[in-house]
Amino acid sequence: MNVSATPVLALRGISKRFGAVQALTDVELEIHPGEVVALVGDNGAGKSTLVKTIAGVGPADDGVIEWEGRQVTVDRPHTAQELGIATVYQDLALCDNLDVVGNLFLGREIVRAGVLDEVEMERRARELLATLSIRIPSVRIPVASLSGGQRQTVAIARSLLGEPKVVILDEPTAALGVEQTAQVLDLVERLRERGLGVILISHNMADVKAVADRVAVLRLGRNNGTFEVRATSQEEIISAITGATDNAVTRREARRQGEGDSETAEGNQ
Ligand SMILES: Nc1ncnc2c1ncn2[C@@H]1O[C@H](COP(=O)(O)OP(=O)(O)OP(=O)(O)O)[C@@H](O)[C@H]1O
Ligand SMILES: [Mg+2]
Repeated sequence: MNVSATPVLALRGISKRFGAVQALTDVELEIHPGEVVALVGDNGAGKSTLVKTIAGVGPADDGVIEWEGRQVTVDRPHTAQELGIATVYQDLALCDNLDVVGNLFLGREIVRAGVLDEVEMERRARELLATLSIRIPSVRIPVASLSGGQRQTVAIARSLLGEPKVVILDEPTAALGVEQTAQVLDLVERLRERGLGVILISHNMADVKAVADRVAVLRLGRNNGTFEVRATSQEEIISAITGATDNAVTRREARRQGEGDSETAEGNQ
């Protein structure tokens, strides 16, 4: 892994309340360049709320966001984009009737002498898709005729046009089949190779194990462990998600805390 010491993005003590619901409490999260961090947790754990605080869609009530080591205020989506944070939401927001080029450059069209420079946009689209090893039959077909996986890769490619340093993917494989999921996971690896930090929200442990370097677990709006994926079993991650009290993590913690008197206890068994 090619990870630098200073996180590109760090969240410190993030809290957020909706009326009576305390959605996030004191949440910490760090993303390094060239690192894929999976953000996992049960429904309602606070994943989307946390992403919204980073994306400037729903700022936190409390806590600090650091960007490349400096404290920043992310109170609008525009601020997040300017810093270099791109978010790909689950409802992809592609325009079915536009082709791939049209979707990639929607809102950032290249204009020359007052007219759309279709040739240049097509050239850049091909180049972008090629550098990401994305295979699409033609950049001139409407995205409606692409598979779910191809659509997802187009949406991710689109987010890269602003040259972000961090990309947040909210459930990018949720609606995809095996082959399409593999395409998207390949793309996540391309992003890491390019030195981007990736936050991958997923309910799919196989995906998490396949591409994430670390996994951060949220439970009831709080951190419930951060794990190195290679050194952690799927069961340990699931225990942290569900809060099962008797799991390897809590047993290990109990062992550490009870060091000294635990031997006698076990001897009596
Ligand atoms: N706009 C809102 N108004 C009131 N409550 C909200 C709002 N958004 C989220 N919540 C509450 O905050 C908590 C966290 O929700 P959030 O959507 O962040 O969970 P999640 O981890 O993304 O879940 P899922 O896996 O189902 O997407 C939930 O209790 C939810 O009901
Ligand atoms: Mg969510």
